[in-house]
Amino acid sequence: MDVFEPSGVRIAGCGSCVPEKRLTNDDLAGMMDTSDEWIRQRTGISERRILDLDKGESQFLLATESLRNALADADMQASDLDLIIHASVTSKMTCPSTACRIAAELGAEPAGAFDLLAACSGFVYALNVGEAMIRSGRYRSVGVIGCDAMSTAVDYSDRSVAILFGDVAGAAVLVRDEDPHRGCLYQTLNADGRMWPSLYIPDDESDLPVGVEDSGSRMGTLRMDGREVYKFAVGKFRDVIQDALNATGLTVDDVAQFVCHQSNVRIIASAMDKLGLPKEKVYINIDKYGNSSAGSVGLCLDQLWKAGKIKQGDAIVLVAFGGGLTWASSVWRV
Ligand code: ACO
Repeated sequence: MDVFEPSGVRIAGCGSCVPEKRLTNDDLAGMMDTSDEWIRQRTGISERRILDLDKGESQFLLATESLRNALADADMQASDLDLIIHASVTSKMTCPSTACRIAAELGAEPAGAFDLLAACSGFVYALNVGEAMIRSGRYRSVGVIGCDAMSTAVDYSDRSVAILFGDVAGAAVLVRDEDPHRGCLYQTLNADGRMWPSLYIPDDESDLPVGVEDSGSRMGTLRMDGREVYKFAVGKFRDVIQDALNATGLTVDDVAQFVCHQSNVRIIASAMDKLGLPKEKVYINIDKYGNSSAGSVGLCLDQLWKAGKIKQGDAIVLVAFGGGLTWASSVWRV
């Protein structure tokens, strides 16, 4: 690889992939004790997309297609990439990393490839790491992917969890840019591991937090203290956005779009209310896709990008929080 000077970073293209199969609130009401009204009121979700396993769909397929789409949008080949970072908590295998298999499927070798695990914060974590790698001058082009197939990680007999989640992949291709003022103006990666028992996927009983009785859900599926996560998320969303504005000196008026993890419409609405964020600057698609964990921010970014809502020179703020507990922000001059 050539030696480069530190540089700016540009989003060269975005992509996403969503399964065709829809799981509506009424479908769920036929499977468990819940209702369309309860789910809409408490979460803002009407339907979510889930893999059709009978058709051979998989988390790997979603992730791969999202990067393929982002490369096409960037008018680049996989062989142009120096690195692929894939964020997920629902990869089927841990060895090899899904990133290595994506690289092989698309023909990116010998690009570096690794998986990153930060639950719903995964896409923003991957974006920040990829951006910093290019800015350092070590890499020219990085493909970042956030993808979760949460339908494979929830127990559909647990109504307190299953109603929230869907399957989605979002990707972006980052490349070096001559203008050092372009790219990430500010970023944070944070975690408070003491709060892990609020949100986790146990493999077996030995993974349960001390003193916690098993909920009875299938092992390998998500356990969540919804109220605890809700409280955490409401405060964190507000604080993280405020911190991003303070650190960059940007005002709400200066920002073209706030690209937020789609966890629950009430969590996003609370941050909008407290910070005075106007509706047209906060993209919401949770009604159609549910909470898709690491896939959510990448999908929002791609949909905004393709709709022409993010233009060259715009400032955008991306924020997410999730299992870990983790949270992250990324302020960009696009
Ligand atoms: N349908 C009907 N009733 C339900 C359902 C359901 N699906 N789920 C719970 N209830 C009932 C409860 O049993 C409870 O009944 P009770 O009052 O008789 O005890 C009542 O509804 C209220 O339950 P709460 O848990 O207090 O409901 P809440 O308003 O908090 O909503 C929710 C639950 C939607 C899960 C909310 O807490 C939430 O969104 N939390 C945040 C979750 C989140 O964002 N997770 C993201 C991270 S995921 C990641 O990182 C992978």
